[in-house]
Amino acid sequence: MERLQKVIAQAGIASRRKSEELIKEGKVKVNGKIITELGVKVSNSDKVEVNEIQIERESPVYFLLYKPRGVISSVSDDKGRKVVTDFFPHIMERIYPVGRLDYDTSGVLLMTNDGEFANLLMHPRSEIEKVYVAKTQGIPLRESLRKLEKGIRLEDGKTSPARVKMISLDKKKQTSIIELVIHEGRNRQVRRMFEAIGHQVLKLKRERYGTLTLNGLNAGEARELTPHEVKQLRALAMESVQKNS
Ligand code: URA
Repeated sequence: MERLQKVIAQAGIASRRKSEELIKEGKVKVNGKIITELGVKVSNSDKVEVNEIQIERESPVYFLLYKPRGVISSVSDDKGRKVVTDFFPHIMERIYPVGRLDYDTSGVLLMTNDGEFANLLMHPRSEIEKVYVAKTQGIPLRESLRKLEKGIRLEDGKTSPARVKMISLDKKKQTSIIELVIHEGRNRQVRRMFEAIGHQVLKLKRERYGTLTLNGLNAGEARELTPHEVKQLRALAMESVQKNS
């Protein structure tokens, strides 16, 4: 048995607090009956409706996928390209990616059916640390990398301070391997940051997301998160959302 507001939140419809409001406003039905008090618990067999629409009930599941390049971070693609859910043929739950990695970016991607968890991690104030390794065209100057560290102006605003480390460079081929640690998750952020200092990203990989790394996985492989990892990630996100609110 789970609290009604938790079940609504896990379905990804609203935060737990907003779910409580929906209940108080009389917008939630359990087995056809409007519920307005907050203490109610429901089991898997109870039919829950929000605004007359039945919500899907599934046990929450959490996976880490080592996304390969050339895959869309989506559950379907109208052009028939490979999507991240293709790597989970035996999983019956309706999982989806938490955020996105570009088609050509590889690395750590979380997959879940827990809408509350996904919304929390993708919250604009959530500051989960993400570690990227980029291969760039050309060798950025030290002062250019300093700009990335301090925050650089992009068309959607200045980026937050980042940590930047030159890992290696190839003078002959004029390429570099650079590690970039950021907390934000804007669209194509890493590629745009490097473009802003005049260097195209040739290859990009997300090596870490919060506490999760690619250790033990090959590209295209996935594993289930441990309950401890789920707890840790939730705590990390909650802490930063509260700190920044
Ligand atoms: N930044 C990018 O530019 N691309 C990604 O896929 C992730 C972060």
